[in-house]
Amino acid sequence: MTASTQPTPSGETANPAADAQAKAERARALRDTLGQFATGVTVVTALNAQGEPVGMTVNSFNSVSLDPALILWSIDRGCMSYPAYTEGEYFAVHVLKGDQQNVSNLFAGRGADKFGQVKWHKGANGVPQLDDCAATFQCRRVQNIEGGDHTILLGEVVEFSAAGGEPLVFHCGQYRALAGQ
Ligand SMILES: Cc1cc2nc3c(=O)[nH]c(=O)nc-3n(C[C@H](O)[C@H](O)[C@H](O)COP(=O)(O)O)c2cc1C
Repeated sequence: MTASTQPTPSGETANPAADAQAKAERARALRDTLGQFATGVTVVTALNAQGEPVGMTVNSFNSVSLDPALILWSIDRGCMSYPAYTEGEYFAVHVLKGDQQNVSNLFAGRGADKFGQVKWHKGANGVPQLDDCAATFQCRRVQNIEGGDHTILLGEVVEFSAAGGEPLVFHCGQYRALAGQ
């Protein structure tokens, strides 16, 4: 028997397996297309409800407003540390340097003890602050905005510092150096 692939008015076909495959392919294509947009790479840290440090690699970071000083980033609802960021009062954003690819990979892992493998100290409001980054923004969470399978976190910058240096760049799923270098 050949199942119909004609879409129903809701956009689905009579073949659930084909629907699932088409959906997965479209998601992959969207992810690849979004990946054409080059970004920097950050690690966002916070304290969980037990007062333990949490950290994750994030490239959805962006500036929003200078006055008041606001930034945003978005977090996948499936992240293990989701409650720490969406319920905690403070978080810190660390802009990584070009030689910190290992730090990015470390904080892109799930759960495990990420802080035993990097140099860090307690910054403003006890939030973990990573050493040797290009820039750091200590933020107070001011708003959670629902965004599909992610939540957008709006933060007010309460302290910031910049050491500078060549940035780590992420493009099409790979780390890159800036063009012209
Ligand atoms: C370059 C890069 C950028 C990422 N950006 C984000 C992001 O903006 N938001 C997000 O939720 N996850 C992002 N991730 C995935 C998280 O870092 C990853 O899911 C991490 O394991 C979450 O940690 P946790 O599950 O221990 O909380 C990114 C990963 C990489 C490698």
